[in-house]
Amino acid sequence: MARIITITSGKGGVGKTSISLNLSLSLASKGFKVCLFDADLGLANVNILTGIYPKKDLESVISGQFRLNEIIIKDYQGIDIIPGSSGVGKIADLTRTQTGTLISAFLDLEEYDYFIFDTSAGISSQVLSFCMASHEIILVATCEPTSLTDAYSMLKVLSKYEYNSPVKVIINQVKSGKAAQKAYGQLKKTVNKFLPVKLSPLGIVASDKNVRAAVISQTPFCMLFPDTIATKCIHSIAHKLMNKAGGISDMPLELFWDKCLSFLEKHHKPEKEAVSPKETVPKEAVPKETIEEKKEQDPEIKKVLSHIESKLSGLIKEVSDIKQFLKRSDASPKRVTAKALKPPEPKEISLDFESWLKKKRLAQ
Ligand SMILES: Nc1ncnc2c1ncn2[C@@H]1O[C@H](COP(=O)(O)OP(=O)(O)OP(=O)(O)O)[C@@H](O)[C@H]1O
Ligand SMILES: [Mg+2]
Repeated sequence: MARIITITSGKGGVGKTSISLNLSLSLASKGFKVCLFDADLGLANVNILTGIYPKKDLESVISGQFRLNEIIIKDYQGIDIIPGSSGVGKIADLTRTQTGTLISAFLDLEEYDYFIFDTSAGISSQVLSFCMASHEIILVATCEPTSLTDAYSMLKVLSKYEYNSPVKVIINQVKSGKAAQKAYGQLKKTVNKFLPVKLSPLGIVASDKNVRAAVISQTPFCMLFPDTIATKCIHSIAHKLMNKAGGISDMPLELFWDKCLSFLEKHHKPEKEAVSPKETVPKEAVPKETIEEKKEQDPEIKKVLSHIESKLSGLIKEVSDIKQFLKRSDASPKRVTAKALKPPEPKEISLDFESWLKKKRLAQ
């Protein structure tokens, strides 16, 4: 039995993997046994942040080559990591026997207090299956309008499938507390108005240059910079998470997989048909000051735009004048054809013997 948490976002690059990894390490530092499952279908993100590149992943467990215990990265700074990567894409197409193998593989695992799933960007059926099967979802967003609208889209799809636990929100890459509050407020207001799903704030992570420095040195930022602001934010989120289970009970892993696989069985569609993160979003989900509006309001941009417009209409007029002139004077350049490029035919040489003799005599 473990607390199973899926970390998702809708939009890519907002900090899911950074938060999943560092939150797992923070919980482990507080004495919990944590397993981080890298459920990113694409590039295995956890590998990049840790510098560990395993040769075997979940795919080799599904194909029966290895046991789950043999692919787990044990005790990386106190946590265990399951490299899902390409194997996650295969989960949707498992046969019944393979499904059984996968579930029983997880039954063999030792007990964990937390099982944390780091998912890929977008709203694919795989991502949704992890979300729908877990008891807890952490939604990561930034203050950017695109991130907030994609977060809303994700919540809309979750509501459509009747996800009914409160979704915990982390606002990441925060430059000011006020901006974070405003972003969360806007998201919550729109969700309250249009969706049945409930939101609860879990915390913020400050924008911190040491996070990027840690990515470059492939060491989790909370290990490399234990006193940096982002690390402090992560510890406070971990603290809140462990103290505020909010009536959430632990879940047996087999139940999780059962739910996950049944969701895929019912709803998995080929990638092209998967739900687009660009679902229709009510205007309220987009913070008021969009780039378009900014464009319209800024007098400098307005001036440049009208200058370009007048230049363009001048050019269009010039082109049509030239066309008219060419039409009238029929001076339009002749189309050069392959025939025109041919060398002229040599003049025919006379083979008349009489005239040749005459020419020769005259020359003498
Ligand atoms: N709090 C932060 N401060 C500064 N930079 C950050 C912060 N959080 C994340 N980043 C940077 O943002 C980038 C993306 O982070 P990360 O890979 O964790 O995002 P992701 O949501 O997992 O992306 P993907 O959707 O591609 O899986 C990284 O370069 C990371 O260093
Ligand atoms: Mg990631």
